[in-house]
Amino acid sequence: MRLPQMPVPELPHRQHELQFYEGFTQTVYTTDEEKQFPDGRLIVSSTDTKGIITHANDAFVIMSGWEREELMGSLHSILRHPDMPKAAFKDLWDTVSTGTKWHGYVKNLRKNGGFYWVYATVVPNIRDGEIQGYTSVRRKPSRSKVAELGALYEQMLAAERSAS
Ligand SMILES: Cc1cc2nc3c(=O)[nH]c(=O)nc-3n(C[C@H](O)[C@H](O)[C@H](O)COP(=O)(O)O)c2cc1C
Repeated sequence: MRLPQMPVPELPHRQHELQFYEGFTQTVYTTDEEKQFPDGRLIVSSTDTKGIITHANDAFVIMSGWEREELMGSLHSILRHPDMPKAAFKDLWDTVSTGTKWHGYVKNLRKNGGFYWVYATVVPNIRDGEIQGYTSVRRKPSRSKVAELGALYEQMLAAERSAS
């Protein structure tokens, strides 16, 4: 499974070849344009057990910049920003796949190459003792936490690069 291809941004941008967990490599673009998390809103999405998006609220659609039809049925990695270390998502999946809630700060990529930070709580949806999928509810993060986590993720990424 691949992801929809990002259009080349109009703003000055960088190009990255990202290798995704599922094995494919895709080109993504980043700009320095940050979109602020909307005040008083939550950004919500659900996935199946493989991380394929099954539900997204309007705030999710607006913040991602993708059309709802492009998001539905796509992997959640459509939001993966190259500044995020792989270890953060490994921790997320290792936690939720054992039925436990995960909290964390995530820098997300928009369709136009911009980005937005969220504080996410990912909860496994369990029915009859079995995980049916996952739901993420995202809140506005504090600027001090964004600065702290941005610096930490930079160090983690550098360690991942030098190990590969
Ligand atoms: C419910 C749920 C919500 C997720 N939300 C995000 C998100 O907002 N941004 C993101 O980059 N990855 C999110 N992920 C993790 C992605 O599935 C994926 O692991 C990540 O983008 C890294 O891509 P990769 O695993 O294909 O390498 C979420 C996963 C789940 C189960």
